[in-house]
Amino acid sequence: MLRRNFLDYPLEASEIILSAGTEDSDHYMPFVVSHLKHGDKIPFNLYIKVKTKNSPDPQYLLCCSRNQIFHRRWYRKLKHLGVSSLYFTSADLDCVTDFLEEQLDASIHSEKMDNLQKGIFTYEIIQTWTRNFFTSDKMHATPQVKRSLKFIDRFMHIIRQENTHLGFVFDIRQHDNTLYNHCLNVSMLGMAFVTYLGWPQEKARDFGLGALLHDIGMTKNSCELLQKTGPLSWEEREQIERHPSRGFALLKNFTCIWRDPLLMVLHHHENGDGSGYPQELKLPMIHPWARILRIVDSYEAMTSARPWRQPWSPQEALRILRSDWEVSQIYDPIYLKAFIKFLSQI
Ligand SMILES: [Fe+2]
Repeated sequence: MLRRNFLDYPLEASEIILSAGTEDSDHYMPFVVSHLKHGDKIPFNLYIKVKTKNSPDPQYLLCCSRNQIFHRRWYRKLKHLGVSSLYFTSADLDCVTDFLEEQLDASIHSEKMDNLQKGIFTYEIIQTWTRNFFTSDKMHATPQVKRSLKFIDRFMHIIRQENTHLGFVFDIRQHDNTLYNHCLNVSMLGMAFVTYLGWPQEKARDFGLGALLHDIGMTKNSCELLQKTGPLSWEEREQIERHPSRGFALLKNFTCIWRDPLLMVLHHHENGDGSGYPQELKLPMIHPWARILRIVDSYEAMTSARPWRQPWSPQEALRILRSDWEVSQIYDPIYLKAFIKFLSQI
């Protein structure tokens, strides 16, 4: 049956709605349902991903046409069905990011939302941007990176209003084992930390961008390699260890990414004792922003679940970082001491 709007008809028994995942097509990009409010006029087509018993491949069916008002009954239906992501086509990318920016502007000035709610909303919008940047080459353009700087700026604005309680970054993080969520968490936590260190807003924002994109070179590896839980072969380890150089090569031509965030990407696996990669640099040669990222990246990885282990508690991660501070020379001792102090105060 041909249906003009999927959400106006009952779900057929043979249909299963699919959520966003790594198997998404490059043409259709995920859009989080929580970015929509009923009554909004949507300036792009929205699709729902459905699989039927007769067709092995997912189909993307129209559920809100361009410039249509998003009805309350559709919102309720999506909620009832547990659908958290819809889709838009990559041709509408600019239109979608304009829409998200407007939503974000409205939320910043909303008196109905407190700072935590604003922080969560901003996190979700940056999450959509990051997911699309990590999964689609079409996003790899200067206007899109400039857009992310605006989103990060909004986040910095909230952090600065919330300066008595930077710990709210811990409440908005989501852990789901995806590369882009890890990068987003590192970016948010890193921006809170450098704000604690007293960095001015613009410098902290550039740090946030470098942290957000630090593992982009990983996207050049296969999904199988990224998800592998067993020991890696020599060749696989070599592939993984190329990700800082690959990320640097991918980002160096963007005119809006300055030298400091670029060197964060290149140096973020260098260790102070020269045991890191790709260049085996000693501490004085590692860019200071990358030394901070090395610490925040490790902490975020420790406190997230991995396929092979449970997440460590913040207290346990803090204890490990403390013992590292005493015995190893991997981390910059001055920044590590400050980070431990930061964690114990929030
Ligand atoms: Fe990395």
